[in-house]
Amino acid sequence: MSAERLHGYVAGATGFVGRALVEDLCRNGWRVTAHVRPDSKQLEAFRAEFLGLGAQVDATPWEPEAMASALAQLSPSHVFCCIGTTRKRMARDGADTNSYQAIDFGLTALLARACGQAGGVQRLVYLSSMGASPTARSAYLAWRWKAECAVRACAVPFTIARPGIISGARRESRPAEHAAALVADGVLAIAAALGAKALRERYRSTDDRALAAALRRVATDPAAEGQTLEADQVR
Ligand SMILES: NC(=O)c1ccc[n+]([C@@H]2O[C@H](COP(=O)([O-])OP(=O)(O)OC[C@H]3O[C@@H](n4cnc5c(N)ncnc54)[C@H](OP(=O)(O)O)[C@@H]3O)[C@@H](O)[C@H]2O)c1
Repeated sequence: MSAERLHGYVAGATGFVGRALVEDLCRNGWRVTAHVRPDSKQLEAFRAEFLGLGAQVDATPWEPEAMASALAQLSPSHVFCCIGTTRKRMARDGADTNSYQAIDFGLTALLARACGQAGGVQRLVYLSSMGASPTARSAYLAWRWKAECAVRACAVPFTIARPGIISGARRESRPAEHAAALVADGVLAIAAALGAKALRERYRSTDDRALAAALRRVATDPAAEGQTLEADQVR
């Protein structure tokens, strides 16, 4: 299939990785639909920003029937799921750790089912996380695992990406994430100097743009269909 005919639908387009992905896909000749939730206080600002990049905006509510019919109508060849919440956001919204269940798992599962119902989606690419596992102790990683299971069960060809720490110039300040990337990369640089280069390659951070480009590449890679790709495969 030629690049002109590819159409990416990006859920989580307003996030750090989502925005980089919209930009990357547009720059690489894809038709792009950026999803913005209808209750977003910045809906019009995002609309202007995405239109400026050459993407169209879809503001379908996060409801099963509405999402399935929007996907059926828009008919994207590829759907990217870059959705998720954070502890900081939960604290700000006065929510509890069940937000991982409602958002990281719930919205991903809703989107996966909607892709199946809509038909015609050639690949669902899910942005998960390093460490997602059925035995994970953290609520975040445990719900990420369940979200991965929902993607695997959705009857649509899929690729799951599990990046490590994502670095880069975020609009919103996240000092803990920035510090974690610096510490992890520093420790890994020392380990590499001592001979553990493979360890560094596996766990070092990646930035939003490199990750976006990797998500685009794996989306059309036949070898990545049905695969769960670890951090060193998505940078
Ligand atoms: N940051 C890292 O180091 C890292 C590492 C590995 C994996 N990941 C995972 O990768 C994903 C994307 O990362 P990111 O840094 O791009 O995240 P981000 O900037 O926080 O973006 C999150 C996206 O999810 C949407 N969202 C959150 N709560 C929502 C809700 N209640 N309803 C609808 N949409 C909602 C946001 O929409 P609004 O803008 O409308 O709120 C935004 O588009 C995350 O889920 C994260 O778990 C992150």
